[in-house]
Amino acid sequence: MPETQKECHKDMDKDDGTSGSSSEEKRAKLYMVEGVPMMTNRYVYNEKIRNYKAKADDVLVATYPKAGTTWIIEIVDCILSGGVTEKIKSQPSGSRAPFIELGQSPYSPSGVDMLDTMLSPRLVKTHLPVKLVSPSFWDNNCRIIYVARNAKDVLVSYYFFHKMNFRMPEPGSWEEFFESFLSGKVAWGSWFDHVTNWWDIRERHRVLFIFYEDLVQDTMREVERVVHFLGQTLERTTLDEIVKHTAFSNMKDNPMTNFAPLTWCIQEISPFMRKGKVGDWKNHFTVAQNERFEEEYRRRMAKTSLRFTDDF
Ligand code: A3P
Repeated sequence: MPETQKECHKDMDKDDGTSGSSSEEKRAKLYMVEGVPMMTNRYVYNEKIRNYKAKADDVLVATYPKAGTTWIIEIVDCILSGGVTEKIKSQPSGSRAPFIELGQSPYSPSGVDMLDTMLSPRLVKTHLPVKLVSPSFWDNNCRIIYVARNAKDVLVSYYFFHKMNFRMPEPGSWEEFFESFLSGKVAWGSWFDHVTNWWDIRERHRVLFIFYEDLVQDTMREVERVVHFLGQTLERTTLDEIVKHTAFSNMKDNPMTNFAPLTWCIQEISPFMRKGKVGDWKNHFTVAQNERFEEEYRRRMAKTSLRFTDDF
């Protein structure tokens, strides 16, 4: 592993992102980039990201937050590595697939700097909406894997993520966060704009569009789609091993994927690997919230052909 990555790995657990003394002081504020709320602290957006020079064999994993990013990254990395290798078992996900929006800190290099030290083929993670992605990913015809997850479960997962990750903006109460999510006033912007804009460009660029719900329903089938998309061939035993390695219970117990050592996560409040289920929203939405959500959902999704399995 290159030196910068080693350093990053070693110090990641110290990296609480900012110098504030209490959790609340460390929380980010939102500011607008081309109409998209982005954060003021460790997850950044700047010229280096905007004009990032992608390489033709880079694989970009793009998602709205909480759509199953860590899961698909683990699957893709195993496929690109030819199986569950020593590297996969011994390095944290964040150093194998740098998050391009990660800013520099006293303890770790930025996502862009990490990528610059990596050998090809590189796996790049982003939550950026289409319009903020560096055009060089399209210009180089990079392979892009987009994972979409149903909005209600994303909302619940994002709320708990805000509660446990003190780099994120203050979420307020469940009711307040519910409204912020519906109006797109959350980091990385509106779920509706994100999923529909990525859906719209999938045929113009080299994008494999995957649903979290399909991954849960038949992981092997979706892993095989990814293998095909990446132009790889793997033995059945290797595929079985990948499906087993990336099962929720195994990723939850794996310190390379569960983010447990990181101090920016207060995992007593909510573990990063929280439930990994479809339909958990039913445990959190009130009847009134569900009605309000569905009305807004129908309005916002009226013009797109994008459909989720549990659409209403
Ligand atoms: P929940 O909070 O609903 O449990 P991301 O990686 O984009 O932040 O997404 C995190 C969400 O994906 C969490 O959802 C997490 O539990 C779920 N997840 C992560 N790995 C998973 C796996 N192997 N199987 C199913 N869900 C997984």
